[in-house]
Amino acid sequence: MKRFIITLAIVCSLCSSWALPPATKPAVAPPPPPPATLTQDLEQLYRLIPAKPLNKLVIRYLLNDAEFQAIIRIINSHDAFMVRMRLYAQPEIIQFQSWVRSQLMLSGGGSLEFEESEEILSLFNPTPYWSVYGWQGFFNEFLAYFPQEMLRAQINAKVIQGGSLAQFWEKLKALRPVYERVLAFPESKRIITQLEQNGVNFSQLDQYIRSLFDWFNLNPVGASTQEVSTVQAPIAPPAANSIVA
Ligand SMILES: *[C@@H]1O[C@H](CO)[C@@H](O)[C@H](O)[C@H]1NC(C)=O
Repeated sequence: MKRFIITLAIVCSLCSSWALPPATKPAVAPPPPPPATLTQDLEQLYRLIPAKPLNKLVIRYLLNDAEFQAIIRIINSHDAFMVRMRLYAQPEIIQFQSWVRSQLMLSGGGSLEFEESEEILSLFNPTPYWSVYGWQGFFNEFLAYFPQEMLRAQINAKVIQGGSLAQFWEKLKALRPVYERVLAFPESKRIITQLEQNGVNFSQLDQYIRSLFDWFNLNPVGASTQEVSTVQAPIAPPAANSIVA
């Protein structure tokens, strides 16, 4: 029952590394394609993520939900900042980022360009719609939008083809020890406690993050040391009832 911030930090850094500049596509169909480059593979995956509804979801909760606002303050606290700094200083992370950067350059995608949102956050609700239900409401709605199964299916298909996405995925999965290490920082533990005090079911969040990257806990605290790596964490079914058009 503990872990969190790093998770978000890793997810966010991965998300932003997926936020590649949109490729300019020629109107004419290309000749039989060479194996996809890492840039192309990541762009394809990134396009599956519905950015617009996810942005709207975050903005609605930022403007209207006290519990969510408190959580945002926690993940922007000094402790959280320190955790992010320590995360980026981990040798495996430095190595991974540098591998990704060189792959993207080799595949003509340029360096990692973070797509900064130019949108200005309005201080007023854009529409007279503010139904919010605390952290759990936010998370359920997020699960409804985030196409985890579709992403996983695409990744699996690309892994079978080999190529650089297969390597990327292997390297990402191999970052599990870093996740465990970062969760064990004293700052991380303080953040997790604060999050739990503010309505976050951290064990649910931890399980979700592990299911995203196949970072299954081989030795859960308080559990037997039996290998559980072959047990796939169940993918949360979309909470369709909470979808907002
Ligand atoms: C937290 O989430 C887990 C996994 O989804 C669930 O089994 C547990 O009941 C939840 N705990 C609370 C207090 O809601």
